[in-house]
Amino acid sequence: MSIQFQGGVFKLETRSTSYHIKITDQAYLMHLYYGAKIGDADVSCLFPRAERSFSPNPAGYPGRDFSLDTLPQEYSGSGAGDFRLSSLAAGHGAVDLHYVRHRIVVGKPALAGLPSCCAAPGGVETLELELEDPVSGLCVRLLYGVYEADDFFTRSAVIVNRGAAPLTLHRAMSFCLDLPAEPWQLLGLPGAWARERQPERQPLRHGVQGFGSKRGASSHQHNPFFALCAPHTTEHSGPAYGFGLVYSGSYACLVEQDQFDTVRCVMGIQPEGFSWSLGPGEAFYTPEAVLAFSRQGLNGMSQIFHRAVRTHLCRGPWAHRRRPILVNNWEATYFDFDEQKLLALARRAAELGVELLVVDDGWFVGRSSDTSSLGDWSEDPAKLPRGLAGLAEALAETGLALGLWIEPEMVSPASELYRRHPDWCLHQPGRPATTGRDQLVLDLSRKDVRDHVWQQIDSLLQKAPISYLKWDMNRHLTEVGSALLPPERQGEAAHRYMLGVYELMERLFKHYPQVLVENCSGGGGRFDLGMLHYSPQIWASDDTDALERAKIQYGTSYCYPLSCMGCHVSAVPNHQTGRVTSLKARGDTALWGQLGYEMDLALLTEEETAQVRRQCEFYKRFAPVLHAGAFYRLPLPGAPGQLAWGVLSADQRQIFVFHMAPAAQANAPVRLLKLPFAAPGLRYRETSSGCCFQGTTLRYAGIALPPHPGDCVTTLLHFQAQ
Ligand code: DGJ
Repeated sequence: MSIQFQGGVFKLETRSTSYHIKITDQAYLMHLYYGAKIGDADVSCLFPRAERSFSPNPAGYPGRDFSLDTLPQEYSGSGAGDFRLSSLAAGHGAVDLHYVRHRIVVGKPALAGLPSCCAAPGGVETLELELEDPVSGLCVRLLYGVYEADDFFTRSAVIVNRGAAPLTLHRAMSFCLDLPAEPWQLLGLPGAWARERQPERQPLRHGVQGFGSKRGASSHQHNPFFALCAPHTTEHSGPAYGFGLVYSGSYACLVEQDQFDTVRCVMGIQPEGFSWSLGPGEAFYTPEAVLAFSRQGLNGMSQIFHRAVRTHLCRGPWAHRRRPILVNNWEATYFDFDEQKLLALARRAAELGVELLVVDDGWFVGRSSDTSSLGDWSEDPAKLPRGLAGLAEALAETGLALGLWIEPEMVSPASELYRRHPDWCLHQPGRPATTGRDQLVLDLSRKDVRDHVWQQIDSLLQKAPISYLKWDMNRHLTEVGSALLPPERQGEAAHRYMLGVYELMERLFKHYPQVLVENCSGGGGRFDLGMLHYSPQIWASDDTDALERAKIQYGTSYCYPLSCMGCHVSAVPNHQTGRVTSLKARGDTALWGQLGYEMDLALLTEEETAQVRRQCEFYKRFAPVLHAGAFYRLPLPGAPGQLAWGVLSADQRQIFVFHMAPAAQANAPVRLLKLPFAAPGLRYRETSSGCCFQGTTLRYAGIALPPHPGDCVTTLLHFQAQ
């Protein structure tokens, strides 16, 4: 049993962590502990009661030494004596939540319409704690999924209106976690388009700090993930908590260090602009969050997330299958292509070992630039005279499968769809709609709009054997309003939009599980745990410059496994940075994710052709081992700007290492890179040099990274146990 209830305390346990919750005498849910496993210990004594001036006492409490303002809680209310971050706000009055009952269930209830970690395989138990605010009739069901073997928890809250009158929710966060006073540091993944997920670590200060998105998408600018760690936490040791939201829309991640230095974290749907009207008996489901803790530093924490994503979030036949190497025509041709060009690219790609051609943006009628035609999803006869079916047939002769780009959430004002249904986009009455990339966002909160979009996707998939779909989204949401919602419910539109996107994606997954879906939003603008429930890979960034891409992949790895990163080798000078890097550097970087090429392969020299062949062979042989192994970031403190990481295969018999030296250095020192995960009892042979090393040597002495002439020089090493 991973959940026990003794003496008013709930004790949740995973392989190496404990989470304890106590019901206080006043029926509040007090957070006692989350961290390394502590067994049965009663830790209530860690919270001596004390009178604190200006921290009020609950009505009826006979003393002054108990206040919600200082109580570590499982889910904070609002306006009833706790002045820190609230988890729930509703109506016009206070929300004061008291424990009423609980239930322990084997398995895990699904969250209506939302992505969440699956129950199987490995087993999971769920603790449901029911809280109630007797005055408003609000009831909160807190759900704790305990993934014992895979060492993580999930949390979410279901808000039910048990009163007789409708209530409006203004804030409904997924979880609240109060941590003791320690000098925590906050690590987040801010970024920008083509510069996604750049890790940033800062000590907490007093007050509220945090980040989020108001863009209707998780966004390039911030990622719905953060970690808290101690000042001494490194990649390999020290405590690290990780929190990831399984949601792709606007969100908030807030951390508050209070007057007594304790720290409250809340995460969930972005409260700004959000409201939800809850009729009597109705329930509102908040998105799920994944919580992980490791004493093995940030790498230990990341590995828990990687397992959670691979095993419990990604679904379907592609979750664990080696994905095809693809060639994408976007950077090779942009909008300037036709069937002949595509087939020439495909023939060349097939000779090199590529397995699938993705026809990117521009294949549909009227689309010769990014200013028109989104929504009119029928083939452009000038570009594809035999249609997608004819193209697929011709491609099959080259040995390549067909993949297709689509942007189903959008409509161009210059399109047949918009002319017929101008009211189908998100808009607010009387306000002109802001455009982004000359496009508008379809109101996917509406079932009629979703049914139309689904019919378009379905007919495309019916008319040609398409085995891969790239689902793109190239602008953020503005004037978020829906024509079908009454004025007082417009605050629901953004979340209803997200639920609509998920519903469409679920239809796609259910009807075409064999189609590999790659999510994309102008690169990695919706790289989140929510999307991974519907597509096992996401285009990591529009920036494929080897140097910048390595940084993006490094940052992405804090929460997301290699298996979900779409990574391409592109042409030089790089289209985003103008930098020229070697084909080896571009390949060495892309080989760690789902490999693809996005360039005119006809321009490769003979030597480069051989190199691409070798890259494809390496990927086909090793990707399954690489993607199932344990990933380690390998910091090189004495060498700023240099990046290194490694993977230990599941059976510990293979090690893969990547190193990137960004800039040449005259008379450079020799750096030693330690591989602290090498199995001490094994002897490894590095396969290209033939040199042999004891596991202990790799762990404690390391390997030499010789000085490299030139900029952006990569090393890719593979060790095999003897
Ligand atoms: C943005 C994507 O990130 C690119 O890869 C490409 O598909 C373009 N959209 C096409 O418009």
